[in-house]
Amino acid sequence: GAAELGPYRHYMHKEIFEQPRALADTLEGVEAIAPDLFDGLGEQPATAAAVFAQIDRVLILACGTSYYSGCVAKYWLEELAGLPTAVEVASEYRYRTSVPEPRTLVVAISQSGETADTLAALRHAQSLGMGHTLALCNVATSALVRETALTYLTRAGVEIGVASTKAFSTQLAGLFLLTLALAQARGRLNAAQQAQQLKDMRHLPLALQAVLALEPQLIQWAEAFAQHEHALFLGRGPHYPIALEGALKLKEISYIHAEAYPAGELKHGPLALVTSAMPVVVVAPNDALLEKLKSNMQEVRARGGVLYVLADADSHIRSAEGLHVIRLPEHYGHLSPILHVVPLQLLAYHCALARGTDVDKPRNLAKSVTVE
Ligand code: G6P
Repeated sequence: GAAELGPYRHYMHKEIFEQPRALADTLEGVEAIAPDLFDGLGEQPATAAAVFAQIDRVLILACGTSYYSGCVAKYWLEELAGLPTAVEVASEYRYRTSVPEPRTLVVAISQSGETADTLAALRHAQSLGMGHTLALCNVATSALVRETALTYLTRAGVEIGVASTKAFSTQLAGLFLLTLALAQARGRLNAAQQAQQLKDMRHLPLALQAVLALEPQLIQWAEAFAQHEHALFLGRGPHYPIALEGALKLKEISYIHAEAYPAGELKHGPLALVTSAMPVVVVAPNDALLEKLKSNMQEVRARGGVLYVLADADSHIRSAEGLHVIRLPEHYGHLSPILHVVPLQLLAYHCALARGTDVDKPRNLAKSVTVE
């Protein structure tokens, strides 16, 4: 009720601001990267060290926002752990004929652990002989945790807003830890690298706090956005799924139609939609793809499109006519997706507020979809 909301008007807003705490909780007690962080808690628990030695690929199954966290993890798992990774929407995987591969770690991601399609996809994988399963879940007592060999519990706390926020960022943190543990098991993470990665992760709560402080600038963006019916989100690499998640958040709670594209695909279709009536959000961290992204931004500007760019501290993108820039305080390396999603959550929230929608209970949607 109202008491639990404290100073917030909506659970979603509260949950966005709980993310530093949720990330701190996730890292509490993690002294070192070790497989036992993933030991099972289900009915037939397994030891992660034993499972990690028997797998040479990863299959991620999930729905909605949880699916997008899996899409980010694919970039991490392939780059840092050298593991070929497939990510599938659970409702597609369960109904298609796929090629089972027993040396696969099947990772089912779900905030609730009760999503019907995700559970069915997991059972389908098991029925095909894939027994190395891991639940990444926010609810310890869920069916998903019971039915998997390995477990990682996110520590987001209860999430009430239908649009997932803190569950997503803690899933990403859990998936990054999983990537590091698998990299270590495969001899790809030495002691110095492990110490550095953990140090970077421990900085997350503070880094998130600084990103949340950008809220006043996002309120300004939202005032302009709320006037429009369409928006386009662009990203590259692991920030492409972040663009997808930003578009999903906007659709879910503000009912503005939004699409996300990997920026390199702009010229293969969506550029035809660009006018001054369709704002274009660009997730633009200072990584190896920034120069490519800048030329994608030029393509938009040259067609009269208006850009809203989430840049990093030192990326030398300056605000100009038709080009709005919010600068995140740092460049966060591999953890950047966890930081860059936060302004997109705030943008969606403030657009919804401006449009007067029911933020915590958007029309036609449910928090947990336990029937097909
Ligand atoms: C519903 C919710 C989404 C969520 C999805 C998957 O559609 O509205 O916010 O991402 O289910 O839920 P799960 O509990 O499996 O992560």
